[in-house]
Amino acid sequence: MVIEKNVSLKPFNTFGINTTATLYCDVSTIEQLKNILAEHHTNPLFILGGGSNMLLTKDIEALVLHINLKGTSILNETDDKVIIKAMAGENWHEFVLWCLEHNYGGIENLSLIPGNLGTAPIQNIGAYGVELKDVFVSCEALHIKSQKVKTFTKDDCNFGYRESVFKQDLKGQYIITSVNFELTKTNHRLHMDYGAIKDQLKAFNILEPTIQDISKAVIAIRQSKLPDPKVIGNSGSFFKNPIISKDEFDILNDNFPNAPSYQISDTEVKIPAGWLIEQAGFKGKRFNNYGVHSKQALVLVNYGNAKGKDIFELAKLIQKTVKRIFNIEIEIEVNII
Ligand code: EPU
Repeated sequence: MVIEKNVSLKPFNTFGINTTATLYCDVSTIEQLKNILAEHHTNPLFILGGGSNMLLTKDIEALVLHINLKGTSILNETDDKVIIKAMAGENWHEFVLWCLEHNYGGIENLSLIPGNLGTAPIQNIGAYGVELKDVFVSCEALHIKSQKVKTFTKDDCNFGYRESVFKQDLKGQYIITSVNFELTKTNHRLHMDYGAIKDQLKAFNILEPTIQDISKAVIAIRQSKLPDPKVIGNSGSFFKNPIISKDEFDILNDNFPNAPSYQISDTEVKIPAGWLIEQAGFKGKRFNNYGVHSKQALVLVNYGNAKGKDIFELAKLIQKTVKRIFNIEIEIEVNII
């Protein structure tokens, strides 16, 4: 285990922003992690997973710990269910593919989400009608100060829409080291209500889809809308979809009768931020080497060598413009560093 000095973080964030870490260490075992925390927990630390949900706007004057814990094991299994433990440094999509190879169902709708498995619970990743919390059993995490291992049950995690206790009350206190999932081996519950999935399966001529087919459909939809971070730097959805009251929605609907919406309770409605941003005129807008993706306005992109600060300024301009036109606040979803 080597601590390196002045390391470029460009390869370690999907936005591809080039800033520097004063100190950097790649950690591949829990023992290493405990030792390094015991020695450095009073120094500034920065925990890095897959780097898929952050925008770096400055150099990191801290010890960056790159969590590279690997491994997947089966903890328990019955005829129709399996409990799998997977380490935090596993790549999320590779884990999804491994599950599909073994015909384990539950996360096929979460195919092709960038990032590492250990950071998935932090923002309760979700797509096409499924959220991580639907298959989550528990996770283990190291308390940074005491280096004690704690198990968090689903209730402990307080999951919400792109939210968990790790983003709220316990922010910066724990490092997730592994996650336990409960997946199905038979009688898979397929989630196809999301319009685009059914259309995509129809386009593939698939009438009785398997979990593998659903994954293929999700991959095709994502590839058609979302830029591949290996080609164009990005962090997926930059903003959350805003949730507004029914009364606010009635006003919006009077002024913009075409506004898409999803009713989420008797009193609340979710509005796609992508639509608001598109209506505000930003979709596909390019400013030098950064901009708004042309196929999904919720995604900000780095065409190469953009500064995180500039992308953050663009995000603030978008927020202000959306607020002015629609009187709706859109919240940034990625972590601004
Ligand atoms: N829309 C537009 N213009 C756009 C984009 C979207 O008008 O440029 C409208 C359309 O009406 C479209 C609707 O928004 O039907 C929904 O768009 P989409 O299906 O692309 O989903 P989203 O609500 O924009 C959310 C997640 C995505 C996830 C998809 C699919 C959030 C913040 N984002 O996007 O998650 O993949 O649903 O489930 O909830 C991510 O978090 O990084 C991410 C990509």
